[in-house]
Amino acid sequence: MKGIILAGGTGSRLHPVTLAVCKQLLPVYDKPMVYYPLSVLMLAGIRDILLISTPRDLPVFQELLGDGGQWGIRLTYAIQPKPEGLPQAFTIGADHIGDDRVAMILGDNIFFGEGMGSMLDHVISQSSGASAFCTRVTDPQRYGVVAFGPDGKVRDLQEKPKNPLSDWALTGLYVVGSDVVERVARLRPSLRGELEMVDLLKDYLADAQLDVLKMGRGYAWFDAGTHDSLLEASEFVRTVESRQGLKVACLEEIAFSKKLIDLDQFTVLAQRAGDTAYGRYLRGLITEWRADHD
Ligand code: TTP
Repeated sequence: MKGIILAGGTGSRLHPVTLAVCKQLLPVYDKPMVYYPLSVLMLAGIRDILLISTPRDLPVFQELLGDGGQWGIRLTYAIQPKPEGLPQAFTIGADHIGDDRVAMILGDNIFFGEGMGSMLDHVISQSSGASAFCTRVTDPQRYGVVAFGPDGKVRDLQEKPKNPLSDWALTGLYVVGSDVVERVARLRPSLRGELEMVDLLKDYLADAQLDVLKMGRGYAWFDAGTHDSLLEASEFVRTVESRQGLKVACLEEIAFSKKLIDLDQFTVLAQRAGDTAYGRYLRGLITEWRADHD
């Protein structure tokens, strides 16, 4: 199982915030945005992850995330020279994918919901085809839209439609097999000059190889690409964390709970986090764990 995080783009809708700083490194409440998609892949048990970003921003991601060894995963990096569309991630990541199935997630997508990791783990362990995930929205015109037939199967897909056929929007999470590389090679750029995810998914649909899963009421999804959605995502994370006393997308906690790192390694990370709320949270987890296991 392989993972790809696509974290390039221009972030133009967030200007001037993103004129000099990459969108996916902005804070979503108490941690950098990229932690959230990375946490989804880690929760699904994916340990070999390629992060793709712009030539300008890639070094900062490397400084922030390193080789992933601190969390028991392997992180590698690649450049997307120009933002020429989401499917390009599979061409850039062809060697990384090899013969495996791969989950690709956008670096500005935040998912929250019980069982998110195991749902993705289940989808990725299936043998063939493409899977995408959709959720109901009130503004489908802004997204890729999925129309379902009476049998519940995908009937059609539309990219940012003026007249959407449904309220079901595609999120930025996709699972495909290694055949994706050949399929992307056959795609042609759209009128806006980009390869389109909807066109790639239509290619799978034509072969009856596409499955789109509806994420129901128990899931929250944010694409933090506008000023309002960025603030909403921060407010959501803050509300959940302060109410439950549990952190969302805490990579150290996930690595320890998935047994990717042991107690000694976790303790080092907790100490390194210093006298911050984040550090105190990690040390609190250790105290709790000791109380349960001693
Ligand atoms: P978008 O939000 O569609 O694009 P963007 O981030 O460039 O923002 P804006 O529309 O405000 O200019 O992209 C969704 C995600 O995919 C985001 O995390 C950036 C990333 N992306 C790439 O890394 N490469 C690409 O070629 C494209 C189109 C997007």
